[in-house]
Amino acid sequence: MCLMKRKYFECRMKKAFIISLFVLPACILVLVQCSEKSKPGLSAKEEKMLAIPDTSAIPHDTFGNAVRYGRELLINTAYYIGPEGINGRYTGNRMNCTNCHQDAGTKPFSFNLILSHSRYPQYRPREGKVLSLAERVNNCVERPHNGKPIPYDSKEMIAILSYLKWIYDQSGQDTAIRKGDQNLAITFPQRAADPEIGKMIYANRCARCHGENGEGKIAEGQKLYTYPPLWGNEGYQPGSSMHRVIKMARWLKANMPHDSATWKKPVLTDEEALDVAAFVNDDRIHPRPSPETFDYPRPADKAIDYGKGPFVDTFSAAQHKFGPYQPIIDYWKAKGWKPSY
Ligand code: HEC
Ligand code: HEC
Repeated sequence: MCLMKRKYFECRMKKAFIISLFVLPACILVLVQCSEKSKPGLSAKEEKMLAIPDTSAIPHDTFGNAVRYGRELLINTAYYIGPEGINGRYTGNRMNCTNCHQDAGTKPFSFNLILSHSRYPQYRPREGKVLSLAERVNNCVERPHNGKPIPYDSKEMIAILSYLKWIYDQSGQDTAIRKGDQNLAITFPQRAADPEIGKMIYANRCARCHGENGEGKIAEGQKLYTYPPLWGNEGYQPGSSMHRVIKMARWLKANMPHDSATWKKPVLTDEEALDVAAFVNDDRIHPRPSPETFDYPRPADKAIDYGKGPFVDTFSAAQHKFGPYQPIIDYWKAKGWKPSY
């Protein structure tokens, strides 16, 4: 009797053991999947594709010091190398690189710079030649910042390049599929972007920070912007990519208004982003002071939202600037050309 009971018990134990062999891994799998989903809307793989470099890992050596200074230069550009810069006078206005390349170029969908180091030297349609990364940095110093080039052998240029290399090195191997490297896409409406509608959107959603006249805001008793200017002598200049309506709208979608929009939850609709970008970038309303440039020596390379001729297609300058863009895109595709914007 006793023996039978024992056997019965042992048999039950064996069964339980065999079942647990299957059930346990299944439980673990479910748990892992649950924890992967714990961050709303993002899988673990996506998290990895968005990973932002941990700046506390910048090494404490001579190279690390250059990286740290480079990061500082991107964040406090005007303080170091602005019109009254303490380490040099290169930028012509008091904007900071991070105003557009947010979080010093590491924020996803904000003209992200993490992969830039790997992309240069590169053929640049705007200049019609191959540029180094240092030359590309100086494009931003000369255009949005309305300044003069930073010398290639200066401590400042070396620091910016060191920082760009370091953030690239931290990005791991998934560079080809990195999320947030390009800004969010937008769907083009049938109509042209409308600066008049954009004006109302600006008043409702932007003026409280950037000012009624796009002049930005400087904190009292200080010389540096809390909210950067959008037009006027102190804003970015024509020839900046931000001056193109599609380029700006795609950036606005994920990033503005600054206190409420995120790439996961944009505030502006695609049409609103285009309309407000048209208002800010309309030269008839907000003339920008810079002289003529000689951009795009080959018109076939021209971005479709670049508002100055000559063009290789039959569309007007106004349609290039404000749209409707879809007919231009369709025309280019029908010709076998690759439209860029
Ligand atoms: C007014 C906005 C603005 C400011 C300020 C600005 N940039 Fe840019 N920058 C852009 C835009 C727009 C692009 C083009 C991005 C694109 O085409 O996707 C760009 C491109 C770049 C690129 C090339 C990225 C790549 O991988 O091809 C680098 C590098 C760069 N900027 C560095 C800087 C640095 C350094 C500063 C500060 C000295 C700066 N930028 C200031 C708007 C700005
Ligand atoms: C809550 C304040 C706030 C609001 C509202 C806001 N912005 Fe911004 N904006 C900022 C700040 C701050 C930056 C700089 C971001 C940084 O340095 O990280 C910025 C940067 C920008 C830039 C790039 C830098 C420049 O000056 O050219 C543009 C363009 C821009 N905003 C447009 C807009 C538009 C258009 C709207 C309305 C749809 C808007 N912003 C609403 C605070 C705001």
